[in-house]
Formats: sequence, structure tokens, C-alpha cells
Amino acid sequence: MAQKIRKAVFPAAGLGTRFLPATKATPKEMLTLVDKPLIQYSVEEAVASGIESILIITGRDKSSMEDHFDISFELEQVLKERGKDDMLQLVRSVAKLANINYTRQGEALGLGHAIYQAKGFAAGEPFATLLPDDIVDSEKPALKQMIDVFEKYDAPVIATMQIEGEAISRFGVIDAEEVEPNVFKVRDMVEKPPFAEAPSDLAIIGRYIFTPDIFAAIETTKPGAGGEIQITDAMRLLLKDRPFYAVKLDGIRHDAGDKLGFLIATVEFALKRNDLGPEFREFLKGLKF
Ligand code: UTP
Repeated sequence: MAQKIRKAVFPAAGLGTRFLPATKATPKEMLTLVDKPLIQYSVEEAVASGIESILIITGRDKSSMEDHFDISFELEQVLKERGKDDMLQLVRSVAKLANINYTRQGEALGLGHAIYQAKGFAAGEPFATLLPDDIVDSEKPALKQMIDVFEKYDAPVIATMQIEGEAISRFGVIDAEEVEPNVFKVRDMVEKPPFAEAPSDLAIIGRYIFTPDIFAAIETTKPGAGGEIQITDAMRLLLKDRPFYAVKLDGIRHDAGDKLGFLIATVEFALKRNDLGPEFREFLKGLKF
């Protein structure tokens, strides 16, 4: 029987160059969609999927992330004195979300290198990895959809989404055989193929379930483009020795690490809010294009 997935890793040590200048002194993961930082969305997704323990891989200037998930004694005191109970509950609930640990990547040497920092944390268990700038808006949490597949097949699982047309060239793409609706056995994967050479329309997105053998694969992965250790290269190495599965997620994925993707996600999330949606919708309707 497959081991239970209890742990999740959040690589958050990238430089966020696509979002400069906002990310010059603020981690990309702390950019807010409506009123919640990006990283909180994926931490909530992980907790809703049964995750008990979290490791955030940070880079420089990431103390705001640690503060966000910590108790804010002063703020709580002021809210208590002012009788703002709703706000107090809200602030407290963030600090109680999960058991969160932090480690530093040191240098941003790629996603594979970032995930490698979790070797001690994983301690021989399979674990989930969530890239916080990929926001998946779905009824059943994206990670839970993947954990269900892991439990059935007892093998690593990659999240994918169908991408139509030439945009597929911006993603890692899988070559795979469908074994049941929306579940695929991976034959191969290729990073950012030209449109004509893409093996499918299934793009890899920022959710993975890894088994501990990923660490040995990362160790033997040579740095690729830009001197970075790419996780796709490590997965390809491992694919020679063991089966890999992919799930086509049921939901909408937003690339919130990209300015346009972030704007779209902001509008969609704001429209869904009971407190903001109706007025915001009226405002948008009144805009002249
Ligand atoms: P991205 O490809 O989005 O890179 O990383 P980035 O550096 O954060 O952003 P851009 O492209 O320069 O704008 C995907 C995920 O991997 C993490 C990032 O924090 C993000 O969650 N990452 C990337 C690391 O933790 N370390 C790295 O060395 C590279």
C-alpha cells in the first residue's frame, strides 16, 4: 500500500524576475491576490489535501513569509482591545494553518536544486511539492486529486493541464498514455518544445508528488539552461527506472508569477467574492474599451 503523503515542500526561493520591480524587495510569494498572499492559497490547498507538515524553501528577504505564518502578538493585542473579533480570528487562523518549517536555498540554482534542500525534511517519505505561483482554482483541491492517484498507483505523480495551441511551447510537456479518465502513465517529458514537436497538449504545472528516489536523481542531474538544475531533467532520469503518472487536473490554473496571469487571477478571484464581487462586476461592466 502506498505510504500516506503527510509532507509538502514549497519552493519559494526564485528571483521572480518576471515580476520586477515588485519582487525587488518583496518575495513573489507574498504578492496578494485580493487580500491573501499567493503562498497562503497553496498552503491552504495542501492542508485541505491532508498535509500535516510543510517546508518552505526560501531565498533572501523572505522574512515577511515567516512573519505571515507566525503569531503577531502586537497586532492580536490591538485587535482584541478594539473588539475586532472577526479580524482577530482571521489573523490567528493564518498562524494556526499548519506546522511550517523553513530552510534556505542559498543560491537560486534552479527548481531541482531548491527541492533537493528538502532531503532531510522528507526523511525517506514520499512528499508533495507545490509551486506557490501556480494557483489552481478547483472544487476538489488540486493536490488531493493527485494524492488519490498516488495512493492508487504508488508512484510519483505530475500535475498537468491541457494547453491549446502554440502556448504549449512555454511549458514542460508529457508524452503519455491515458490509463483511466484524466490519469496518464508518462512515457517521456520534454521541456519547452517547439509547437510542432510537442508530444501532447498536456503541460506540466507546478504540483508534484515525489518519492524519495528523486534526491539521488537530482544529485546526478547536470546543470542545464542558465546553470540551473532543472527538475524536469531529474524526473527524466528517474523515469528510466520507475513508472511516473500524471493527472489532468480538474480546475483552472493561473500563472500568478506572470503579470498578465496575476491580473487575470485577481479579477476572477475578486468576482467570486461575496463581499466584493457584485460591486466589482458593476464597475467592470461600466468600463469603456
Ligand atoms: P520560476 O520559474 O517561476 O522562477 O520558478 P522564478 O525565479 O521564481 O521567477 P522568474 O521566472 O524569474 O520570474 C518556479 C518556482 O521555483 C522556485 C520559485 O520560487 C517558484 O516557486 N525556485 C526557482 C526556487 O525555489 N529556486 C530556484 O532556484 C528557482
